[in-house]
Amino acid sequence: ESTQLKDIISHAKEYGFVFPSSEIYDGLQAVYDYGQNGVELKNNIKTLWWKCMTQLNQNVVGIDAAIFMHPLTWKASGHIDSFNDPMIDNKDSKKRYRADVLVEEKAAEYEKAGDLDKAQALVKSLARLLEAEDLKGVQELIISENIKCPISGTTNWTEVRQFNLMFSTQVGSVAEDASTIYLRPETAQGIFVNFLNVQKTGRMKVPFGIAQIGKAFRNEIVARQFTFRMREFEQMEMQFFVRPGTEEEWYEHWKQIRLKWHEAMGIPAEKLRFHDHEKLAHYAKAAVDIEFDFPFGFKEVEGIHSRSDFDLSQHQELSRKKQQYFDNDLNEEGKPFGNYVPYVIETSAGADRLFLMTLCNAFTEEEVTEGDATKTRTFLKLHPALAPVKAAIFPLVRKDGLPEKALEIFDQLKYDFNVIYEERDAIGKRYTRQDLIGTPYCIAVDYETLENNTVTIRDRDTREQQRLPISELSRIIGDAVSF
Ligand code: GAP
Repeated sequence: ESTQLKDIISHAKEYGFVFPSSEIYDGLQAVYDYGQNGVELKNNIKTLWWKCMTQLNQNVVGIDAAIFMHPLTWKASGHIDSFNDPMIDNKDSKKRYRADVLVEEKAAEYEKAGDLDKAQALVKSLARLLEAEDLKGVQELIISENIKCPISGTTNWTEVRQFNLMFSTQVGSVAEDASTIYLRPETAQGIFVNFLNVQKTGRMKVPFGIAQIGKAFRNEIVARQFTFRMREFEQMEMQFFVRPGTEEEWYEHWKQIRLKWHEAMGIPAEKLRFHDHEKLAHYAKAAVDIEFDFPFGFKEVEGIHSRSDFDLSQHQELSRKKQQYFDNDLNEEGKPFGNYVPYVIETSAGADRLFLMTLCNAFTEEEVTEGDATKTRTFLKLHPALAPVKAAIFPLVRKDGLPEKALEIFDQLKYDFNVIYEERDAIGKRYTRQDLIGTPYCIAVDYETLENNTVTIRDRDTREQQRLPISELSRIIGDAVSF
């Protein structure tokens, strides 16, 4: 892990953003808990996504489907047959690895050593073998490249096998009656199976979308880079149902809308890029990732996929229930378009990845001079709409009626904003603590406040203080947190 990522991970833990799951038992790999500040930040990300998807688009509505679904769902979606990673075990360390990642890491080693041709050739061979589902070939590649197990250092490999990423469990208490069900590996299928329920009860006309936020589960073997790749994570997905033949224009439309959303969240344009997929998932006709420049390189935070009528047609076949829409708009010949299975454009973002992106982007270290000394100030430069706490209210001292006055302000603001009251420690220390969690404003109540109902308000980024009437606070914070 890069140095900066390490700093961010320890910052996240130290200031109540993210804790390793069940830490007192030494944690559980690739599972994390959000702390008191983390949950606020993540909720703010989810709320802004929800608002931009459903509230700003007349023709997009939300649902909240269950995590458990009928097992045939996953047969229809292709996840039982195709949602696999090629795995290889090292016989000495008994450790399991993703075969494709071992080869990619070897290619990265060649690249680092300046041997670009060799690196490219290796990546190409791997892509060819995976495309042909030639697992024996992948194993031979690992052996011929003399790829060693990072733990045992040996090349004593098993064959390569496909390993399904879905978690399964049993439903029903009696063993004979129990049947296998899965924890959903994507939220999208909960939307597909409810397509007609929503369309009919909401009297929706194509084109329209259904949005959902919820947990998804994948038995990721390469679990690294903090909340980037987790076994239990949250997705924010939207399926947009369109008339066949119009999918390309809607794909372009949603690509641009989603990119703009990330920029509006405060991510600079130069830290974002599109990356077209060469290798498409089993359902996709076209796919693009939005990538962010993480400390470990440009990596996917969201996918936009053109899924054709793949999912609805599959569900139609396995459920034997028609998944069609009757389009009574008129075509060029003046006739209704009639019945069809709509095509789908999907936008699929990971809440935990966006959380990590937001944290990486906000983490700021700057040199500041105080008197004769220079020191490093660490703060989170979060968009005020995303900041866990919007303002902290401090009485200058703990006497002479200042705490009471500060609490009065706190009571005024708390109905509209997540604000906190803090009276412990010297005021400088209190500012520092708020900087570390990204609070955009600190409001100090002093003796002058008692005379003329004004306070000082300190800006997190500039550290500048301004004196303002108390009556202005609500408007100032409100303007800053609007999105
Ligand atoms: N319904 C399509 C779908 O699930 P995906 O590209 O597999 O597509 C979409 O996942 C998004 O979900 C990714 O861009 C990423 O943000 C998030 N995601 C996927 N796997 C994840 C994991 N193991 N941990 C955290 N986020 C993940």
